[in-house]
Amino acid sequence: MPSTDPRLRELIGPEAIRARIGELAIEIEQAVEARPVVLLGVLKGGVHFLSDLARAMSSDPRIEFIRVRTYATGTDAAPESTVIDLGLADLAGEHVVVVDDVLDQGKTALALASTLAPLKLASLRWVFLLVKEGARERSGVRPDFVGFEIRDEWVVGYGLDLDERFRNLSGVYVWHR
Ligand code: IMP
Ligand code: MG
Repeated sequence: MPSTDPRLRELIGPEAIRARIGELAIEIEQAVEARPVVLLGVLKGGVHFLSDLARAMSSDPRIEFIRVRTYATGTDAAPESTVIDLGLADLAGEHVVVVDDVLDQGKTALALASTLAPLKLASLRWVFLLVKEGARERSGVRPDFVGFEIRDEWVVGYGLDLDERFRNLSGVYVWHR
């Protein structure tokens, strides 16, 4: 659904997201030649992205999920730690693409990378719907595929939340206090 909240300003509309995900699906399927591609969705923020990306692909990807929790409330608190709930299927020998909502400080990606490192994957790539300005530098993470480069602002919608709100919006919005 769209938002009528006056504190939200639409940044990326549903149609632009849909179109870009169609392009990403092609990019990913060309880059990862082996089949199946395993899409590893990062909950909760990556839920719509994974769902739409999987349906935009022309091959038959495997779908797995992992949950990463970053302890911080609101928009300014520094995240303190990240806990990963595993329940990962056997990914040894698989070509995995991690599907996440946004690259910001990179704590999620770094924690995930060390969790996945011992699993003997055939290959590991990262797709982020959004990458914030300066995020590559401050995180040291190099995404393989990126939906949109955005300014360093708090965004909500399309899976992204502010204290668990706004995940159901069909576009991405900038939050203004
Ligand atoms: P990281 O800072 O790159 O580790 O990002 C950790 C997680 O924080 C992301 O996967 C999101 O779930 C969340 N996050 C970072 N920036 C935003 C934002 O602007 N809006 C909503 N969630 C965010
Ligand atoms: Mg997230």
